[in-house]
Amino acid sequence: MQLRTHFAETFGRAPEGVWSAPGRVNLIGEHTDYNDGLALPIALPQRTYAAAARRDDDRLRVRSVQTVEVVEVALDDIGPGTPGGWAAYAAGVPWALREAGYAVGGADVILDGRVPLGSGLSSSAALECAVGAALSDLYGLGLLADDANRRRLVEVCRRAENDIAGAPTGGMDQSASLLATAGHALLLDCRDGTTEQVPFPIDEAELTLLVIDTRAEHALVDGQYAARRTSCERAAAALGVPSLREIEPADLTTAATRLGAEGHVEGESSEVLARRVRHVVTEIARVREAVAVMRAGDWVELGRLFTASHASLRTDFEVSCPELDLVTAAAESAGALGARMTGGGFGGSAIALVPKELVERVTELLKRLAIDAGFPEPATFAVYPGPGAGRDD
Ligand code: GLA
Repeated sequence: MQLRTHFAETFGRAPEGVWSAPGRVNLIGEHTDYNDGLALPIALPQRTYAAAARRDDDRLRVRSVQTVEVVEVALDDIGPGTPGGWAAYAAGVPWALREAGYAVGGADVILDGRVPLGSGLSSSAALECAVGAALSDLYGLGLLADDANRRRLVEVCRRAENDIAGAPTGGMDQSASLLATAGHALLLDCRDGTTEQVPFPIDEAELTLLVIDTRAEHALVDGQYAARRTSCERAAAALGVPSLREIEPADLTTAATRLGAEGHVEGESSEVLARRVRHVVTEIARVREAVAVMRAGDWVELGRLFTASHASLRTDFEVSCPELDLVTAAAESAGALGARMTGGGFGGSAIALVPKELVERVTELLKRLAIDAGFPEPATFAVYPGPGAGRDD
């Protein structure tokens, strides 16, 4: 059924428009955004759609076509934990818009989320950004007009996720959803907020970017993500820098010695902290290298960087899991140029850069090995860099 029809059946009137925003995969630069680092996501072709219309009573009514219930809340009542569940990601947006000083009123919204849920592909950011795009247009806020305004909306959507949904994420997902463009990866500098569009002509290169959803459970609101973030902040404080972005690869030995001299930093072993730092610092350097090799069309080297990134996330940052390790290793042994987990980790999805003619072999092997290991059968699909959020209709 068309989203407009869903809207009419639910709310008894026509929507004023339909907007959408994409999920993302990050090519490289993981757990760097909250360290003022660099990341390189693409927007996915999979999007969340929002049909919406204004209300004049400062209330938000929101329903997803994937659920039956309509969640209704007064804008003044929105706060941490209210409403709970998935609706927090939608309601957080008008809350954060108002916090940022934008005059936004009520709305009826119906959502159709086509980004797989719980797969680490940023279905939550897609939802926030689709609602943000709708509210911006409905209330004439102009936040889709250009990159400077879109950056403001990135911050709004991030606050919605951090403060209302309670996930202390770093902003990469919302940036990808609002700032990425078709055919490009988005080089995101989280220290100064600047971006660059890096061409990613995957088709011309006869390659497929394969997403491998392990279906291993993953949740950013559980404590692990926050714990990694805290470790990075503690390490930066102990090293006397505002963020780990300030540490260069050449400084790593000195940094480890300095952390070692402290023994423990607020209860965390300095050996563990030094590994966390090493991941962040080398990962930021890998993003720079990735951009250089993409510009040179050196896809073999890009694959090698994917693999190095995964190893660092597995052993130094410890955010991988057996399912992700298995599918990435299997993809490589069947001929992928490289593979890595993408997103927060602890489950969710991996990506693999695969020569087109090997996609079937790669897919078959990783599914067979996952099943043999007693894991859920992974879902695989090819993706390409799609456009950022906007109005559809
Ligand atoms: C999640 C967060 C992002 C980022 C990644 C890890 O996707 O939402 O902000 O920190 O994890 O790179």
